[in-house]
Parts: sequence; C-alpha cells; structure tokens
Amino acid sequence: MAIFKKKITERVLPTHIAIIMDGNGRWAKKRSLPRTAGHAAGSKNFKDIARYCNKIGLKYLTVYAFSTENWKRPKEEVDNIMKIFKEYLEDAKNFKDENIQVQFIGDRSVLDADIQRLMKESEDASADATGLHLNIAINYGGRDEIVHAVKNIVDSGVDANDITEQTITDSLYTAGQPDPDFIIRPSGEYRLSNYLIWQSAYAEYWFSDILWPDFKPKDLDRAIDDFNKRNRRFGGV
Ligand code: FPP
Repeated sequence: MAIFKKKITERVLPTHIAIIMDGNGRWAKKRSLPRTAGHAAGSKNFKDIARYCNKIGLKYLTVYAFSTENWKRPKEEVDNIMKIFKEYLEDAKNFKDENIQVQFIGDRSVLDADIQRLMKESEDASADATGLHLNIAINYGGRDEIVHAVKNIVDSGVDANDITEQTITDSLYTAGQPDPDFIIRPSGEYRLSNYLIWQSAYAEYWFSDILWPDFKPKDLDRAIDDFNKRNRRFGGV
C-alpha cells in the first residue's frame, strides 16, 4: 500500500491533454444501436472525463467534438451531433458550478445562431472559473485555424520580417495557452486528423483500441502513467 501511495504522489500530470473522442459509431454498431446512440454515449463520457480531469487537477483539456471535415457526414448525423451539443450547452451551468472554464475553439460563425449564443453564454458564465480550462473544438480544423491566424496577422498590418513562430501561436484559437503535451486517441486509429497540428509539434501521443464511450478514468490514469515514462527531449539530447 505504501508503494502504491508513493507512485501516485510522484506522478506528474501533463499540463494540457488533448483527446480525439473517436469510436462512437463503432461503439453503437457493436450494440446494434443507431450511430446517434453512440454520440449520446460519447457526450456523456466526455462530461465524465472532463469532471475527472478537473478533479485530479489537470490545467487544460481539449476535446475534438466536431471537425471542419465532419460536415461530410449524412445531414441526419450532423443534425444529431449539433442537437447533442446544444443539449450540453443548455446544461452547461453544471460545469460552471464545478469551477471549469469553458472555451470553444474553431470557426463558430457558420453554426446556428442559437448555438452561438449558448456558446457565448457558457464562456461568459465560466470565465472566472479557476479549475480546469476546457477547450471544446467545434467546427475546428488545424489547417483552417492556421489560415484564420494568417488572415488576422495580415490584417494587423505587421511587417513580414517581424513575424515569428510566436506571432502565429498568438493568433491561434488557443492563444495564451500552453501547447498540448499529451494527445490521446482511442478507437484504434493512428492519425491526428487535422487536430491541433501547430500546437502538437512536441506532444507525446497515446493510442488505444478502446472506443471513446468506453474510455474511463482508469484508462486516462493508465495513459498518464505511460506519459510519465516518456523521455521528452524537445530536439535536445
Ligand atoms: C467520432 O466518432 C466522434 C464525433 C465526430 C463526434 C463527437 C461528438 C460527441 C462526443 C458529442 C458532442 C460533443 C460535446 C462536446 C457535447 P465517430 O462517429 O467517427 O466514430 P466511428 O469512427 O466509430 O464511426
């Protein structure tokens, strides 16, 4: 027991975990349920994992809820994900009570006006929270984010010679935040799918066959234990 306690206290948390919530559709298929049931289960799991991250004292969590490419899905499925997202937003005051600061990253301008309003309300209501900083990526694409950043930089009139990596970092949706140091993708896929492509330059990656609705706090703990075994050199020796 003493050894167990020692291991927990010595464990270092990543500063910023980013998760690709993948595998909802396959989770539903395995149970002969419609894909919509998979997204509902994925949404519930997202709330559980965000609460758990807040409880263990994680500083930043980013989740991929809807990508710029996800519009290619059947309209019925897109509508269902937006409905689940809206339900979450309507319920978001529960997060406020938990001291979680919510921020949305991505191009929200094309989302329904109702959803945009709820997003803003949720950000405003949780702005003073001091616990977990939760980024929800919605209509998010890493390349789209970089294009958006470059447009803002050009609009600002800055001299090209004055543009540095920091200029770009400061123009991303995640401006002011530490880069993700740990990226988790469950569901057996081994790719980044246009997620945080600038910010993840030095992140560690963790993959697993677990489908997102089945990814539980114990799996996150296992991933964090693995993160602790990594030797991060950032290009040095
Ligand atoms: C990927 O699984 C999941 C999505 C594209 C949608 C994720 C959405 C949610 C978890 C619900 C809404 C989010 C919030 C923040 C309330 P997939 O459908 O690609 O699964 P598959 O690869 O098994 O088909």
